[in-house]
Amino acid sequence: MDQQLEQLRAEALAAISAAADETAIEQARIKFLGQSGALTTLSKGMKDVSKDDKPRIGKLLNDVRNAVTAALDERKAGLLADVDAAAFAGVDVSLPGTAPRLGSLHPITQLQDRAIQIFRRMGFALADGPDIETEWHCFDALNTPADHPARNEQDTFYMAPADGCPGGRLLRTHTSTIQVRTMESSAPPIRIIAPGAAYRRDEVDATHLAQFNQMEGLYVAEGVSVADLKGTLEFFFRELFGNDAQFRFRPHFFPFTEPSFEVDIKAAALKGSHANAPDRWLEIAGCGMVDPAVFEHINTKRADRAYDPEKYTGFAFGFGLDRLAMIMSGTPDIRYFTQNDQRFLAQF
Ligand code: PHE
Repeated sequence: MDQQLEQLRAEALAAISAAADETAIEQARIKFLGQSGALTTLSKGMKDVSKDDKPRIGKLLNDVRNAVTAALDERKAGLLADVDAAAFAGVDVSLPGTAPRLGSLHPITQLQDRAIQIFRRMGFALADGPDIETEWHCFDALNTPADHPARNEQDTFYMAPADGCPGGRLLRTHTSTIQVRTMESSAPPIRIIAPGAAYRRDEVDATHLAQFNQMEGLYVAEGVSVADLKGTLEFFFRELFGNDAQFRFRPHFFPFTEPSFEVDIKAAALKGSHANAPDRWLEIAGCGMVDPAVFEHINTKRADRAYDPEKYTGFAFGFGLDRLAMIMSGTPDIRYFTQNDQRFLAQF
């Protein structure tokens, strides 16, 4: 029996050290330690061993079992280490890894967020409205009659009329529609800004896109004056362009404000694509005092006199975020903002 056990030990250890993969190890385990394996079979001979020899043979049996088990475990671990080593062969694990590329917000979004923050500090709330609008919200309510050139099919994307929406729908040509929607649903005083997309059937070139971004503002309360309008816009643009900014409120015409102005700015920070930009007046916004006729259109729709023009006055303004981003960054072509070119976007 001693001899048989020693022979089995030698055989098993040889087979295990020759096992080339996990399957071979498993086969060796079954062959020597399995339920009908060699060791199990041998141990059945214990019953024929003399009483004197039993402790010694029993101990030997245990030794052999332990030795074979340990050899199996060791060989398995060795094989795993070999596999790992093979996977790393030729790889210099001390080299720096590939850093993940961090994204950032689009420059127009960054500017929009900044603008919202500045107006928030002045108590303006955010308002919203749909991109697909009724002609009434886009034009009629804003005192823009049916024969006004702004309604021209050439300037505007019209859609098929929908139920309950006489006169058809269109992609809003400006965010001033949100002035109307806000006044429809809330009584004065109101103080809102509304960033959003606007659409015009413009030929796309270096300064025009068919879809661009505006920010609208509206303040209606008792006793709002042109001085409030000027103060609000000057504060806003000084926050963006610096305290040296100079302003010019140039008389203009919008159907829904009276009087109306265009705002020009001169500031050292301006990086217009033209030479001498800081010395030139650049137009940056349209604005004015809400025309009493707009209040009356709203009253008629609301079927009340919430916007009594004898009691309330208001100002409104609108500016293009894309244009503002262009002159703040010196970007010569507005189309860069839509092309998703990382070389351009990474500069912001
Ligand atoms: N809606 C005008 C435009 O798109 C801008 C504007 C807004 C003018 C509010 C006056 C008041 O050109």
